[in-house]
Amino acid sequence: MNKVVPYSRQYIDQDDIEAVISVLESDYLTQGPAIGKFESAIREYTGAQYCAVFSSGTAALHASYFAAGLDKGDEIITSPITFVATSNAALYLGARPIFSDVESDTANLNVGSLEEKIGHKVKVIVPVHFAGHPVDMVAVRALADKYKLTVIEDACHALGAYTKTGSNGWAKVGSCQCSDMTILSFHPVKHITTGEGGAVLTNNKLLFDRLLLFRSHGITKNRHDFVSTNNGDHGEWYYEMQCLGYNYRMTDIQAALGNSQLTKVEQFVRTRREIAAHYNSVFMDNPFFHIPVERDYGKSSYHLYTIRLKDHLVDKRTAIFSKMRGEGLGVQVLYIPVYLQPYYETLGYKNGCCPVAEDFYRRAISIPIYHGMTMSDCHRVVDTIFKIMDEVN
Ligand SMILES: Cc1ncc(COP(=O)(O)O)c(C=O)c1O
Repeated sequence: MNKVVPYSRQYIDQDDIEAVISVLESDYLTQGPAIGKFESAIREYTGAQYCAVFSSGTAALHASYFAAGLDKGDEIITSPITFVATSNAALYLGARPIFSDVESDTANLNVGSLEEKIGHKVKVIVPVHFAGHPVDMVAVRALADKYKLTVIEDACHALGAYTKTGSNGWAKVGSCQCSDMTILSFHPVKHITTGEGGAVLTNNKLLFDRLLLFRSHGITKNRHDFVSTNNGDHGEWYYEMQCLGYNYRMTDIQAALGNSQLTKVEQFVRTRREIAAHYNSVFMDNPFFHIPVERDYGKSSYHLYTIRLKDHLVDKRTAIFSKMRGEGLGVQVLYIPVYLQPYYETLGYKNGCCPVAEDFYRRAISIPIYHGMTMSDCHRVVDTIFKIMDEVN
């Protein structure tokens, strides 16, 4: 069989390997200088004032919801077309996710229909930039301001994407110009990788301080922040646990890899946009499926390239998918609407809650796109897809 072309994968070069080795040969494997270097490189790249890296994107989401004050009985509003982590992290804190329906083409939250979901328990809106295409953040911010809600962007797909910010023109996703915090993931299928890893970006120092506490057991060693009045006279060893935190720290080994990867992110994003442009040109107006769109307020970083089958092929999606896999295309279906998962059903979520998301799910297939994919891989993907579509049509 032909080699498998995955839907996405990491790109590791000799510089990355040497960066990791240099940490292995250094004094610190964790809690050392590579963390701060990676955080400041991410700040510089995105334009956000503060950055805290985490052991995963999921940990970063959990910490951001904690920092936002999310608590038992509160609600967040998010998209059902996301990885389960986006809403699971709210459940960790005893809060309830409310799923709001998506646009049929971008599969991003439909901001126009979001307002009707805002009840008095809602504290946070979590737009997910599906596939790397930004949500209309100016519209989300306006709604959040009207109801005094926190906005946390799940940008796990969208490092390197751009969004219009109204009067300020364009900004990189992660600059937090229209949000309170932004989440990144560095899983190997994402734009850059640290193996596992994530980050929270913010321009708010109070949120940043809460993120740091949560990341490391709720402990601070900064004497200016000590709150205890009854611990007597302690020496330099003294530290304080001020809330229930976790060990969500990234290691220096991971941070060094991330730092090295980040120097190449522009190239990684450019390649993905070039592959998307090629796909768009050959797939345009084909009779079998719709191709991704790009709105005038967003420049996608194309974490995914997701095709949507036309009506007459929807019932054949399973067969098409199996044939693609059989021909060595590592295609994937992203995502099953989260509330259809059995665990969510046990929490009372029901079929039919977001009909556009369910319809998107029936049609979607994500095809290969990543830096390191050759032009010959690209041609093979296109030829194989057309061959299969002709067979099943
Ligand atoms: C949209 C989205 N949110 C959150 C996550 C969780 O990130 P991680 O896998 O780094 O924990 C992912 C990663 O798969 C994701 O795609």
